Amino acid sequence: MSEITLHFAQTLSFSGNPLVTGSESVSHDARGAIAVQNGRVLARGGAEDLRRDYPQAAVQDHGAALLLPGFVDAHVHYPQTAMISSWGKRLIDWLNTYTFPEEMRFDDPAYAAEIAGRYLDLALAHGTTTMCSYCTIHPQSVDAYFSAAAARGMRVLGGKTCMDRNAPDGLRDTAQSAYDDSKALLVRWHGQGRASYVITPRFSPTSTPDQLSALGALWAEHPDCLMQTHLSEQTDEIAWVRGLYPQARDYLDTYEAHGLLGANGVYGHAIHLEPRERDRLREVEAALVHCPTSNTFIGSGLFDMAGLVAQGQRVGLATDTGGGSSFSMLRTMAAAYEVAQLRGTALHPSALLWLATEGSAQALGIADRVGTLAPGSEADFITLDLASTAAIAQRSARADDIWDAVFPTIMMGDDRAISGTWICGVLQ
Ligand code: GUN
Ligand code: ZN
Repeated sequence: MSEITLHFAQTLSFSGNPLVTGSESVSHDARGAIAVQNGRVLARGGAEDLRRDYPQAAVQDHGAALLLPGFVDAHVHYPQTAMISSWGKRLIDWLNTYTFPEEMRFDDPAYAAEIAGRYLDLALAHGTTTMCSYCTIHPQSVDAYFSAAAARGMRVLGGKTCMDRNAPDGLRDTAQSAYDDSKALLVRWHGQGRASYVITPRFSPTSTPDQLSALGALWAEHPDCLMQTHLSEQTDEIAWVRGLYPQARDYLDTYEAHGLLGANGVYGHAIHLEPRERDRLREVEAALVHCPTSNTFIGSGLFDMAGLVAQGQRVGLATDTGGGSSFSMLRTMAAAYEVAQLRGTALHPSALLWLATEGSAQALGIADRVGTLAPGSEADFITLDLASTAAIAQRSARADDIWDAVFPTIMMGDDRAISGTWICGVLQ
């Protein structure tokens, strides 16, 4: 039998979605543990119980740190790493001024490889072990991403961003080449090691109806793949979509009419939804991804977390690097808290932690593998130092329960709070 390692720390275990069932569905163990063997979680329980059950196991004691599943970032653009936090624009101008010129550089495979590696190292330092990324229109940007993730042993999802209009020369494909290139990349990468291919039309304004149809056809051929795109992020964008697709009932209908609505669809932002759109998304059990630092940074609007969850929608959480202003899922949880406050709801720390781990994993259909520490899951986990700065330490010192102890780290923490990141049981 191969070696077993016990990790002792504070642990949480979720028996449901705390957004729905409240923090009572979470149990806290101040002296908990996981047992890891062959890159997977073998068991979870009390530290002394696991020590008794596995007397030969090596022990790593993380003291008062909180051991969590690695964060799952459900919507990022790794090619935007080097231009994150670019000043002064709203969505359409931001894309044209900053994003498209940067994405054009990914024509160069060496540049794509450099940024893919840089992005994944930043993500790991921030405790993010899995993400779902847009690449650029260049197939080599997809190869760079999956190769860099494989070199680090990470479970990642992503795909070639498709655009055949309203983008500059050098950053457009065609309906046919988007289909052909996406298909070739899907065949090359989907299910290779820990990689999953995601069919990725950027959003309706940068695709012709023909391109959306071609990608809808590809999805119908590979229904087990996810399809990701953007939906109803800014009001100017929605007005533009209305002009480009005069036949469509609403923004979601531009996807639905071309075979791009389904349970494996992952829709980023989803802020300004019409009642029909909400009903259809719910009916098909699509996933919505909340990107709160992006929504405040680009000035998009306030996602209706409470209303959407009450309606039974599946919701994940994401940085939206580099429209989002941080690589950190802690900063992202803080922004989600603030956005919800502006809409009159205080999200409990258990709900924020769930969204950043199991919730995002559920939105991406991978919660049987990552986003939890249930026995059998892949041993991607982090330890969170609940006193990582003087400001946080003086506040958490007077906490009288785990939620009061972790909330200052959610609101004020960053990569300094991540004291360790493990991929398949190996410290990075
Ligand atoms: N909508 C279409 N493309 C993008 C993008 O790159 N970032 C964000 N935030 N929204 C988009
Ligand atoms: Zn995005």
